[in-house]
Amino acid sequence: MTNTAIILAGGQGKRMKTDKPKVLCSVLGEPMLEWVIKACESAELEKVCIIKGYNAPMIDEYLAGRASGADISTALQAEQLGTGHAVMQAEDFLKANAGGNTLILNGDAPFIDAETINGALKAHTDGGCSVTVVTANIPDPTGYGRVIRGENGFSAIVEHKDCTPEQLAVTEVNSGCYWFRTADLLEVLGELTNDNSQGEYYLTDCIELLIAKGRKAEAFTSHNPSVVLGANDRRALLALNDMARAEIIGRHLDNGVEFTCTDGVSVGTGVTIGKGTVIHAGVVLRGSTTIGENCEIGPNCIIENTTVGSGVTLNSVQAFDSTVDDGAKIGPFVQLRPNSHIKRGAKIGDFVEIKNSTIGEYTAVAHLTYVGDSDVGANVNFGCGVVTVNYNGDKKFRTEIGDNAFIGCNTNLVAPVKVGSGAYTAAGSTITKDVPDNALAIERGKTEIKENYGLRRLKHHKEKYEQAKLAEQEKNKK
Ligand code: UD1
Ligand code: MG
Repeated sequence: MTNTAIILAGGQGKRMKTDKPKVLCSVLGEPMLEWVIKACESAELEKVCIIKGYNAPMIDEYLAGRASGADISTALQAEQLGTGHAVMQAEDFLKANAGGNTLILNGDAPFIDAETINGALKAHTDGGCSVTVVTANIPDPTGYGRVIRGENGFSAIVEHKDCTPEQLAVTEVNSGCYWFRTADLLEVLGELTNDNSQGEYYLTDCIELLIAKGRKAEAFTSHNPSVVLGANDRRALLALNDMARAEIIGRHLDNGVEFTCTDGVSVGTGVTIGKGTVIHAGVVLRGSTTIGENCEIGPNCIIENTTVGSGVTLNSVQAFDSTVDDGAKIGPFVQLRPNSHIKRGAKIGDFVEIKNSTIGEYTAVAHLTYVGDSDVGANVNFGCGVVTVNYNGDKKFRTEIGDNAFIGCNTNLVAPVKVGSGAYTAAGSTITKDVPDNALAIERGKTEIKENYGLRRLKHHKEKYEQAKLAEQEKNKK
């Protein structure tokens, strides 16, 4: 018996006012659809069918780019005629797995979790149900389908727009998450009509159809009311972001991470932070980022898919797909572009960009420097304004610098080039040849002295200065 999942992702979400399908709008930097897929994966549902519709190529593109977990297929809903109509498009998928149960999820409700999915499945199978709807009680049920319970228990879901005044007062709402016995779902899908205020085929009408056939329907009330929360517009999306942000920061606080304040701080779901680390204002940690213990991060950093060791300082740093080892001190105003590895104790100072390079232990790149496509040894010192010239307009080449080398200020290292260990380059040199170990390379013009050149200019220069001073004195007198 295979239990499978269908995620409804076909709607446009007109109120979001965006060209992309609503489910690709993000919560903490990840599309809502991604949150829902991850919930399926952590509930160990291996087969997932996503119903795409509005701007379907964007859904395809997103799915193609994500790391695979569950076996994901898609079905196209060419016209969006409602949630019931959306599920009809997955008929082949349902038939192929007709022996089990099918979970249906809304792609615009990101906080559904594995605990709720599995709790509801247990209630569904233990109770011998044909359909089990996940519900929750929320203070403001506006816009949600209401859960109607009669004398014989759960009887229907009525959409907000179709509610009577008494039904509008009900605060138990439909989350849009359901377990159906797959064969029963297939049986009633074809019987849905669009005879309602929105002229749509409502998936929720399956419940009444199944009850009419004498099948059992139950409502499973989730302990976590957030599972129902969805975003139909930008305000709701921001509210979901704020909730997720506070929830995640709360979890890190419990683990011993210090936040000096939370202004502009956003920590993604895939981020781990060690205890004793301090996070300052304006820090965005996203993707699969790991920060060690006792680090000082911020203010103003973006750290994405990066592994940071312990005791590291990052101040106004942007780092992408990189590794920073223990004790490194980086910033302010530094960019680490993909595939950079800053080793233990290295110091990277202001206005430095590192790309696709290794910086050895205790090496210092203190100011105004570009290091691209380079392998730099340990204990190297970069003077101010060094540039690795890695690109000739056509191809990129690597620069190699040995341990204990000293690169003078304003050196250009024209790759491919090697500076040996313990070697020096003179300030202002443009190095185009390999420098042997322990050698000094000087590649610049000799200084030419023209005696008394300055005197010729000095008279004019001084006059201008005296005039300016006089003009200021006159102005002050007035
Ligand atoms: C739906 C439920 C409502 C529930 C609420 C929870 C129905 C009829 N109503 O309402 O009871 O309280 O979710 O959030 O199901 N979609 C398609 N194709 C369509 C229409 C929608 O794929 O033709 C997708 C949307 O992309 C979205 C999901 O289905 O991810 C829900 O659609 P939406 O229009 O947001 O339904 P709600 O009005 O929120
Ligand atoms: Mg919705």
